[in-house]
Parts: sequence; structure tokens; C-alpha cells
Amino acid sequence: MTPASANHGTGTIPHISEKHMRLLVTGGLGFIGSNFCRHMLTKHADIELINLDKIGIGANPSNLCDVENDTRYTFIKGDIRNFQLLSRIIHDVDAVVNIAAETHVDRSIADPFIFLQNNTIGTFTILEALRKHNPKAKLIQVSTDEVYGQALEGSFTERDPLNPSNPYSASKAAADMFVLSYCKTYGINVSITRCTNNFGPCQLPEKLIPKVIIRALKNLAIPIYGSGTNIRDWIYVEDHCEAVDIVLNRGKSGEIYNISAGNEFSNIEIAKKILTILDKPERLITFVEDRPGHDLRYSLDSTKTRTLLGWQPKFSFQHSLESTVQWYVENENWWTPLATEDILSPTPWRLSGIPP
Ligand SMILES: NC(=O)c1ccc[n+]([C@@H]2O[C@H](COP(=O)([O-])OP(=O)(O)OC[C@H]3O[C@@H](n4cnc5c(N)ncnc54)[C@H](O)[C@@H]3O)[C@@H](O)[C@H]2O)c1
Repeated sequence: MTPASANHGTGTIPHISEKHMRLLVTGGLGFIGSNFCRHMLTKHADIELINLDKIGIGANPSNLCDVENDTRYTFIKGDIRNFQLLSRIIHDVDAVVNIAAETHVDRSIADPFIFLQNNTIGTFTILEALRKHNPKAKLIQVSTDEVYGQALEGSFTERDPLNPSNPYSASKAAADMFVLSYCKTYGINVSITRCTNNFGPCQLPEKLIPKVIIRALKNLAIPIYGSGTNIRDWIYVEDHCEAVDIVLNRGKSGEIYNISAGNEFSNIEIAKKILTILDKPERLITFVEDRPGHDLRYSLDSTKTRTLLGWQPKFSFQHSLESTVQWYVENENWWTPLATEDILSPTPWRLSGIPP
């Protein structure tokens, strides 16, 4: 696998902050977490980065093999629900970026309890460790557009109420509520980011884009839920990482920041675009039973983040999709061990006893 190609030709990213920072990133071996760790180490020379990850679903130690020997980087295998461990790590960090979570909606339908435990109680445990051992440190809670529920028209702003539809989004919404309450009650310095659907290198093949790419490469049927009209707003993972970095440096305590790039496509459009890039026939697409509680459309208004923090997406959707497809084509060694029958299942929410 070639993790360095993850930035696909963006070149050297200029250093914007040379201020020394000791940063704890949780979930840094997963898809977004590994891209975020690399982003921070590339962009900030004077940083110490501790990556705490339980190595669960979505984690892959090879995602960060290129930074393993960087003296500024330390990996700790551990769980954010382990208060004693967190207390030892958290007491002398400047900031925590909480990316760790159980993330697959289909799995949350098959086994909701692990989502409550990891996403809500996990975040609560971080808040408690901060409150008791380092109340001055900053916390960035990496949340999701899914907490707002479906947007049948318009786009949600940060002022809209939460209306989650599935156990995954409910567990993330509950975590957001705890985060805000710790700011108001205990004065903990927190910001929440809510981002739309990410894509890019190192994403587990159970998510839509890698699943379509891998099944197409294997000439397998491409399962699309329902009629394929569900709409998601897509963002390239590096743009998300940049936004979280900016919120970490410039975000205000108690504030929520929506992150979106304005690339709304239906699932069927995404599948067709990937098949076109791979020069595979559209007849591979098959429609399968829809999952329960499947939100029709997600859409975020990110004006606040753009105007107040000066963030904007840099990567074009089509170019990023092409380079992501290319990454999966070139990194078969990365995904082959992961692309099991269960992971590539057409209807994962029907599987019971998915391994934890
Ligand atoms: N993928 C998206 O499109 C998207 C969009 C918006 C927000 N998010 C949020 O971004 C975060 C990361 O998503 P992802 O797609 O990279 O997920 P992922 O499944 O690829 O990675 C999650 C990581 O968290 C780790 N983890 C889970 N529970 C843990 C625990 N209790 N203790 C320590 N580590 C734990 C896993 O081992 C894994 O490495 C999540 O919080 C998710 O809600 C994701």
C-alpha cells in the first residue's frame, strides 16, 4: 500500500502553524483518523501527536505505516472508554480531537448497543477525563451531518435541532449533547464539527464508494439500496481534515461548525460515475432491499465555517473520485484481506452477530 499517495499530488502543504502543540487524536487508525494524523504531521512541524485507537472495525495499522518512525508520533492501543488510561494520557495534552467511533449505520441497526457504548459513553469518558485532569485543554468533537436527520429541502445550519434517524446518528447526537453540556456546566473548551459523507484512501470496503469500486473490480453485482435515489453530499477526506485542523486552531469554544463541499449526488449517480471511471458496464448495478430508517437526503450549510474561519474545500469532486478509484486499483494488497463476504454484503444490516 502507498499511504503517501493518499494526498494524490497535492504537493507540499505549507506550514500554517508553528506553535508547539501536544495533541491527542482518538481513532487515528481509521479512515478519517489516519488521514487526519498524516495531515497534522505534514502541516505542523512543531507537534507531538498521540494516536489512541482500540484497533476495532475500520482501524488498520498499515494506514499510518509511513509515520511510524516519526519521533513526533506515538501510537497507544487503547479504548476511549478506559478512564484510567485516558487520565494518564490526557493530563498534559493541549488538545484532544475525538475521531474514534463505531461508524457504520448498517452495523448500528444489527447491534445498536456497541454504538451507545463507544460513541456516547466513549465521548462522555473523554469529557470526564478532561474535567478531572485537564479542564483547560481543548476538545474537538468530530460529529456528523447525520445528527440533523434527513433534509427533504434546503440545508441544515448549526442552529437546526437534532433529529437522528438510526442508532448510529442517535449515539453521535447524544455525544454532541454531552459535549455542549460540559462546556456550559464545567467550562470545558469544546468545538463540534459536523461533516458530510467522506471519501478517499483507506476507507473500509463496507462503505458505499469503496464497496462499489471493489465489487466492480471483481465484476460482482453492485448492490444499491431501494431505488438508489438517496442523496448524500460528498467531501474529499483531505478537505475534512483541513477543516478540523482549522477549527482546532481558530474555532471558538461552545461553537458548532458544519463542514460540506456541496457535492450532492444520489447513490445511483455515484455508482454510475465509478463504473464509468473503471470502464465497467452499468448492468452490474442491482437494486436490493432498502435498510430501515434510510434518510433520503443529507445536506449542510457550511457558510459559518467558511465565513468565520476562512475554510473552503480545495479538491474537485470528479478529480478526487478518480484518484480515489486509482488508489483502490493500486492498493489491492490493502483491501484484499478486508473484502470479506460480510464486509461486501449487499445488505449488511440484515447480518446478525457482526464481529465487534
Ligand atoms: N466517514 C464519514 O463519511 C464521516 C462523515 C462525518 C463524520 N464522521 C465521523 O468521523 C469519525 C471517523 O469516521 P471514519 O469513517 O474514519 O470511521 P472508521 O470506522 O474508519 O474509524 C473509526 C476508528 O475509531 C476507532 N475506535 C472506535 N471505537 C473506539 C474506542 N472505543 N476507543 C478507541 N478507538 C475506537 C476504530 O478502531 C477506528 O480506527 C467518526 O466519529 C464519524 O462519526 C465520519
